[in-house]
Parts: sequence; structure tokens; C-alpha cells
Amino acid sequence: MQSENITPRDRLIVALDVPGVAAAEAMIGKLGDSVTFYKIGYQLAYAGGLPLVRQLSAAGKKVFIDLKLHDIGNTVARGVESVAKLGATFLTVHAYPQTMKAAVEARSGSSLRILAVTVLTSYDDNDLHAAGYRLNVTDLVEARARQAQELGVDGLVCSPEEAANIRKIVGSRMDLVTPGIRPAGSATGDQKRIMTPARAIAAGANYLVVGRPVMEASDPKAAADAIVAEIAQAKA
Ligand code: C5P
Repeated sequence: MQSENITPRDRLIVALDVPGVAAAEAMIGKLGDSVTFYKIGYQLAYAGGLPLVRQLSAAGKKVFIDLKLHDIGNTVARGVESVAKLGATFLTVHAYPQTMKAAVEARSGSSLRILAVTVLTSYDDNDLHAAGYRLNVTDLVEARARQAQELGVDGLVCSPEEAANIRKIVGSRMDLVTPGIRPAGSATGDQKRIMTPARAIAAGANYLVVGRPVMEASDPKAAADAIVAEIAQAKA
């Protein structure tokens, strides 16, 4: 998806990182028309949050299911088919060739798009080595980005710091979705490699995932609007 075809508001994905459906619905109500795209991850999905995907889609919103699938190809394919029926827009899988291939095949004919997670951003070279890998983080990210592109994966989740380099590798056709976004002046929390919305867009991100700077703001709607305004001003 080319960025010029997406409105600034549709490029903000708010992470519904809350412990249950009631809290999620309260936040969705507060955010109203300011947010069009939500992410549901482990915490909410495993607390009964998956029916929200259909509810949000029926209300004209888009949903990113962040469950980072990885299993034998057949199991991944069956899972992807079920997620596609929920009406989600994005689903994450780990960037293993078998997993990506199965996910891409299983999503065909639906509007679901597959995002691959190259290397988790909490991993450094030592973590990869401890897990038995020969490559360092940079080389593994590049190799997996290339594999993802060859296998027809729709996009990649990456840190904003990696976005410019990955954009050079994969060209303009893949979506780059970046968490680790902090508007100037907001608390960083546990995120180490952060960027402002404008800089992430300039680095080549199509979509920004933002959790705490919106969810924990005293006025979440105003926080979301400010991020959308910054996206609108940013030069890609
Ligand atoms: O609160 P914050 O803006 O840091 O939330 C970022 C969201 O993006 C969380 O849901 C987190 O799980 C997710 N995420 C991340 N870093 C990654 C991948 C996903 O922070 N590398």
C-alpha cells in the first residue's frame, strides 16, 4: 500500500493494551472518530477481546491482530484462515520462511494482510547467539526482510530506527509498521529505540503503532489528534 493513498488518521494504529473488554470499549468510546485503526495483542486477545475485531469492523474501524504466529505451516494456515474471517486488516507472524509462506497462501482471497516480525526488538546480538543463531541482528533483519518480500508478505513490523534501511531493501510496495513511537515530550517507558511520529514517517514508515502516549494520556483523544496532525505535517 503506497503511503500517499492512506490518510494521516488511518496511519495511526492505537495499541489497545488493556486487561479486558470493558476497558477497551471505554477507551474506544473516548477516542471516537479520532482513531480509525486499533491493535489487539496478547493481553486483550486472551482476555476475551477477539470478538471486538468483528465489532470494530462493523463500526468501520480497522484492526491489527498482533499475535505473532509461528507453528508448522498447516497450523499457521488454518489459524490465518480463521483470523481472515474475523475481518482484521493486519496479522503478525514471525519471519520464518515456512510460516510466512503458509500465512501468505492462507490469506489469499481475503482482505487480511500479513506483517512479518523480522527480529524482536528486545533481542540483541547476544540474545540471538544464545538462541543458536550465527547472524547478528542487522544481518538477520536484512535476510528476513528479503525473504519476506520474496514470499509475498504484505509488510514488516520494525523499529523506526530500522525503517530507513529496510525501506531501501524492500522498496516502496511493502507496508512498514513501526512501534516505539514517542511524540516529543512524552515518557519513553520501557521503549529504548524511539522516534517521534514525524521522524518515523520520514524514515519510511507507513503506519505508526502507539500505545501508552495515547492510552495513558489525560486526554487520549487530544493525544491521538496531535499525533495525526504531526503525521499530516511529516515529509515522507
Ligand atoms: O506503549 P507503547 O507505545 O510502547 O506500545 C507499543 C505497542 O507496540 C505495544 O503493544 C507493544 O507490544 C508493541 N510492540 C513494540 N515493539 C515491538 C513490537 C511490538 O513495542 N518491537
